[in-house]
Amino acid sequence: MATVEIKEDLYWVGAVDWEIRDFHGYSTKKGTTYNAFLAMDEKITLFDTVKKPLRSEFLHNIRRITDPAKIDYLIVNHVEMDHTGCLPEMVELAKPEKIFCSPMGKKAMVDHFQREDWPYQVVKTGDAIRLGKRSVQFVETRMLHWPDSMFSYIPEDRLLISSDAFGQHWATSERFDDEVDGAELFVHAAKYYANILLLYSSLVQKLLQGVQDMGLAIDMIAPDHGLIWRSHPQKILEAYDRWSRQETRPKALIIYDTMWNSTQKMAKAIFDGLVKEGITCQLLDLQGNHRSDVMTEALDAKALIFGSSTLNNGMLPRMADMLSYMKGLRPANRIGAAFGSYGWSGEAVKQINAVLEEAKFQILDPGISVKYVPTHEDLRKCVQLGNRIGKAIKETE
Ligand code: FEO
Repeated sequence: MATVEIKEDLYWVGAVDWEIRDFHGYSTKKGTTYNAFLAMDEKITLFDTVKKPLRSEFLHNIRRITDPAKIDYLIVNHVEMDHTGCLPEMVELAKPEKIFCSPMGKKAMVDHFQREDWPYQVVKTGDAIRLGKRSVQFVETRMLHWPDSMFSYIPEDRLLISSDAFGQHWATSERFDDEVDGAELFVHAAKYYANILLLYSSLVQKLLQGVQDMGLAIDMIAPDHGLIWRSHPQKILEAYDRWSRQETRPKALIIYDTMWNSTQKMAKAIFDGLVKEGITCQLLDLQGNHRSDVMTEALDAKALIFGSSTLNNGMLPRMADMLSYMKGLRPANRIGAAFGSYGWSGEAVKQINAVLEEAKFQILDPGISVKYVPTHEDLRKCVQLGNRIGKAIKETE
């Protein structure tokens, strides 16, 4: 993938990963990109690198602009290996005068690469360096999403190089937001937020406020994954504000797994009850819906209702996986409920409720367990459960 000049003398030199399909449990059905940026200035400066297997594409891109040996500064906004996989090789090739990183970034680099001898220069929020005609200001973004994470802001270009924040896992031939379908772009951005940043929402709120207080004028946001926000930086900032407030709408998800379709029948009856109350509702069978796609839908859903048959005195494995994943991402201010069929012991509903309680969901109802196959009366109770949850959703509006 050819380099792209994103600002005068500032180039995208990253790599596009068309093949990746799983990113730590997040399904990357359309691949991703690892964005790195090269500023050609009095001090030639490289911002971040790429995942190691894509080293030749990355080095080729740098060589299209300059000899890597001429690079003076490396800026490491984030130490996770999708951005530092090529760092040891870059240090060897460039022999940089300085490697700029946050205090936690230095610690993380020493832990990853066991190189105390690299020319680290630790920077903190508010610190700035001059490259020549442009400067770089640093903003630490601790725990967004690693302790070492930071932003680099270039005031002369009104450009925020934002590391993982505002990214999307989406491999494309285009580099800018205005060159792709806007609706699809936001689906990828929402999936990224729901699956990577949701649990840090209160920190995102503080960061957005901090960026505003610092008065950073931003007309381009260049994340380390996906498209660069050239035409709509404000839109993604507004979306992050909304998502990090954990704002929901009258929408419910019925997430279930089933052995012999009894739990599925219950799911459909609960669905009918919700729809009757005018609630937007989705049936998400875990046999066909990936956990990370469920989380994307959960981003704006007020109620999450989980159903599982009982297997070996517990819930089905896909439900255990889903709940463990969801709990880690900490959706807040949600209504929850459980249901499921069983043969003789029936622990699944109790176990689901225990997870929902731990995750601080508002549980309106003990849930419904049905032996073997739901009767007409059982299904009527499921419809009523849907009605009750629907009414509770409307009361929160
Ligand atoms: Fe894209 Fe946290 O690495």
